[in-house]
Amino acid sequence: MNTPELIETAKAMVGCDKGLLAMDESNPTCNKRFASLGIPQTAEARRAWRELIVTTPGLGESISGAILYDETIRQQKKDGTPFVKVISDAGIILGIKVDMGAKDMAGHPGERVTEGLDGLRDRLKEYFQMGARFAKWRAVITVGDGIPSRGCIEANAHALARYAALCQEAGLVPIVEPEVLMDGDHTLERCGEVTEEVLRMVFSQLYAQRVTLEGMILKPNMVLPGMSCPVQAAVDQVADATVACLLRAVPAAVPGVAFLSGGQAPELASARLNAMNVRFKSGLPWALAFSFARAIEQPALETWQGKEANVLLAQQVLNHRARCDRAARRGEYNAAMDIEVV
Ligand code: 13P
Repeated sequence: MNTPELIETAKAMVGCDKGLLAMDESNPTCNKRFASLGIPQTAEARRAWRELIVTTPGLGESISGAILYDETIRQQKKDGTPFVKVISDAGIILGIKVDMGAKDMAGHPGERVTEGLDGLRDRLKEYFQMGARFAKWRAVITVGDGIPSRGCIEANAHALARYAALCQEAGLVPIVEPEVLMDGDHTLERCGEVTEEVLRMVFSQLYAQRVTLEGMILKPNMVLPGMSCPVQAAVDQVADATVACLLRAVPAAVPGVAFLSGGQAPELASARLNAMNVRFKSGLPWALAFSFARAIEQPALETWQGKEANVLLAQQVLNHRARCDRAARRGEYNAAMDIEVV
């Protein structure tokens, strides 16, 4: 383990007011998104979509790191150039999703635990040799009647911490992602309580597993009401509740917090991140950044529709969203940016 290098990588991931692009949908998830738009669910269509993303001109001005999926890290552009080279030539740090997905948890109806620790040490070694310098593992926590249970929170936090320790041993910065889902009708306050409990448990487990906090990135949800909660929150309420929760539970040694978007509308995700930076940036110990998938990709995917003729326009749409999120990091995003879109 090379601690100074890990710390440098983690700093670079959240430095320069840039953020991360999570282009690491598993094949089933990517296929599901394609299916809803009538795009063929084939390896070639997934490759073409990822080529569109990594060849977007100017992407490196807003994106510091890209998270890939196992299939994608081994793929090439149509002309044979490996994606890994295209990404590093753009000045973007290479990351890789290494969990094996959230599976139903025995004895815990309605809850899931993320798998993937078996054989992880060898997989990490291979990814490092391929050029990856950071990794991601996502745990999901569902809010509902009587859940999440202590058992589910503990099992997921323990797995995240063991994953993070193995990453650091292999020279990879772990992105630790405990996602409290937006599904359901729970309130903003309930999401805040659950998120705080989960984060406290995650950091307790990270400490027990001797993870260097300076060499990791936290990827949490924002504190939001459930999607079907009748009372939705104003942008500033979300900003306040999220920052209050993080201040209670996230140690100051962590260099950066990079939010997932979790199904929020892209403009809302930008506006909420912006509000947090406008209101709190100068007084926070960690950077508040983004690690979005849908909030950056979805409008571009809808523009592309699997058609070669739409590639350039889709790239402009993708770049626009990434630029909006970079502006949000600086507290310089405003809704007018979204009116002038291509
Ligand atoms: P979303 O931004 O679409 O929630 O995805 C982030 C992510 O990487 C989930 O693991």
